[in-house]
Amino acid sequence: MKKKILLICAAAATAAAVSVPAQAQFAKAEDAVKYRQSAYTLMANHMGRLAAMAKGERPFDAGAAQASARLIESLGHLPWEAFPQGSTSKGLKAEPWADAADFKERADRFKGEAAKLPEAAASLESLRKQVGATGASCKNCHDKYRNI
Ligand code: HEC
Repeated sequence: MKKKILLICAAAATAAAVSVPAQAQFAKAEDAVKYRQSAYTLMANHMGRLAAMAKGERPFDAGAAQASARLIESLGHLPWEAFPQGSTSKGLKAEPWADAADFKERADRFKGEAAKLPEAAASLESLRKQVGATGASCKNCHDKYRNI
């Protein structure tokens, strides 16, 4: 009987641990900041490679462009869950959690543009256009939320 109660307690403790809010994906606020900044750093690296091709500073290579484009699309799913309430940082101009709907709208606009990048990377002309549109969607969010 005692053993059964212990088991029930253990199960309840596990359930409680599992049902903590989504914010607990990050043990500390700094972990969330590090996570989102890392994702942005990688996205920006690959945007830089595409921009260099678009500007003719680097020879156009469809394979490399598509690889970077796919990475930007995938990495572009990562930062948004890493803005739990109170995870302030020097990089923030405004608090995304204070107007989550507005922030989500800007993130969704970016995701929509990033989703078009891999196909656009097939030719230099379409790459140029889509790098521009994607870059504008980064800026659309940075203007309000990123402290540069
Ligand atoms: C919906 C909003 C949003 C979109 C879209 C967005 N960013 Fe950001 N970005 C932010 C915010 C907010 C920060 C500041 C995060 C922090 O420092 O806590 C940031 C920070 C950054 C940083 C600095 C990271 C660091 O190490 O401090 C880079 C680089 C960056 N973004 C690149 C990009 C690029 C490139 C794109 C588009 C391909 C993009 N971002 C799209 C909101 C956005």
